[in-house]
Amino acid sequence: MGDQHCFAKRRDHFLGQLEGMAAIIPAAPLVTHHADCEYPFRQNSDFWYLTGFDEPDAVALFMPYRPLEERFVLFVLPKDSVTEAWNGFRYGTEGAVIHFGADIAHPLEELPKRLGDYLKGAQGIAFRIGKHPTIEPIVLKALATQLDNVQRNGSSAFSLVAPCPILHQLRLYKESWELERMREASRISAKAHELARNVVRPGMNERYLQGLIEQYFLEQGARGPAYGSIVAGGDNACILHYTANNALLNDGELLLIDAGCCLSDYYNGDITRTFPINGRFTGEQKALYEIVLEAQQAAVESVVPGNNAEEVHKIAVRIIVEGLLELGLLEGSIDCLIEHGLYRHIYMHRTGHWLGLDVHDVGAYRLGDYPVNLQEGMVLTVEPGIYISDRFPVPEGQPSIDDRWKGIGIRIEDDVLVGEKYPEVLSCDAEKSVDAMQFRNT
Ligand code: GLY
Ligand code: MN
Ligand code: MN
Repeated sequence: MGDQHCFAKRRDHFLGQLEGMAAIIPAAPLVTHHADCEYPFRQNSDFWYLTGFDEPDAVALFMPYRPLEERFVLFVLPKDSVTEAWNGFRYGTEGAVIHFGADIAHPLEELPKRLGDYLKGAQGIAFRIGKHPTIEPIVLKALATQLDNVQRNGSSAFSLVAPCPILHQLRLYKESWELERMREASRISAKAHELARNVVRPGMNERYLQGLIEQYFLEQGARGPAYGSIVAGGDNACILHYTANNALLNDGELLLIDAGCCLSDYYNGDITRTFPINGRFTGEQKALYEIVLEAQQAAVESVVPGNNAEEVHKIAVRIIVEGLLELGLLEGSIDCLIEHGLYRHIYMHRTGHWLGLDVHDVGAYRLGDYPVNLQEGMVLTVEPGIYISDRFPVPEGQPSIDDRWKGIGIRIEDDVLVGEKYPEVLSCDAEKSVDAMQFRNT
């Protein structure tokens, strides 16, 4: 796990790129589940990236125009023995300085009164509008006051910009200690997939396997699942974000599991595997599985510096379309099918996304007209799939689909690091060969 030195280094990089602007980065609030119960706390990833502080309702100020010992200020919930007795420990203002490297810390309730003074001398404000409803009015009021006083105090007028381009560009490139954490998240997630495949039997409930996987995450010290685990038997696998996980697993059908853990420092795994519930592929299942596997492996191999995520997607699409043509599930010329998206009733999502503190991590995929080049230290998922059901209409001119193919949903997803020359598959402990998918260890 990164220590305070790691977070301090990130803050230095961030401060160095603010060019005289103040940045205001709020923590996440607690979110009501129902009545007076809250969801488990989940820190805002930008705030975490810069502070490592895991409490709700805090605000970090970054002020490169202030003296060295006043550039990182934290507003936090103050210590309060009664509230702490109900809801747990707080570091308070002293703890924020001692343990989290804040130059100065104040109680959060003092933010409205102090923000204006801290902003004096800033060239602008970096704050993400639209995401922090309780902090936003305080920021806008401070900005309005600054603008009202421009004439009298001679400061330059403030611009309000989003901090995302700077911060998310930093987050896109993983540091070596972060990569160790991502390897760990993938290792635990992969092992959970292996456990599930080895115990699955017809007649089990999807929920049983969800429990097994998430129990393993917790036993390994993870916070729990990184996102709602998808445990989808048969046709449920064709529902891309299926999380009901409450159906019985049928003999002769496939099981798709998309699950990954979230570590204590919020690094995530995101892995999908698909295998036969009874340990034997049918002819149709195997034919489609082999296409997805070939597409996935070719796409993974293309995760190298200089390539880009769009090309990775195109590689997967071409192999899938070729395979579906051979099976008679598509008709026409491959280029025409791809150009007009005539395969999208069967493969309707992109092939991957950045992975990091957020499962769908931050960072641009395109800059203007150009796709962002892959570079060493970026991590993305590679997750092509084939989903055959009646949910998406068959495009005009394409063959109707015989019932024997329906109810088959397959996705194979790995977490892949762009290495210096070769991709590193962080999730390689989860098997995916045809033989392994039919093998049971028990
Ligand atoms: N599990 C979410 C995703 O694969 O993108
Ligand atoms: Mn996934
Ligand atoms: Mn994914």
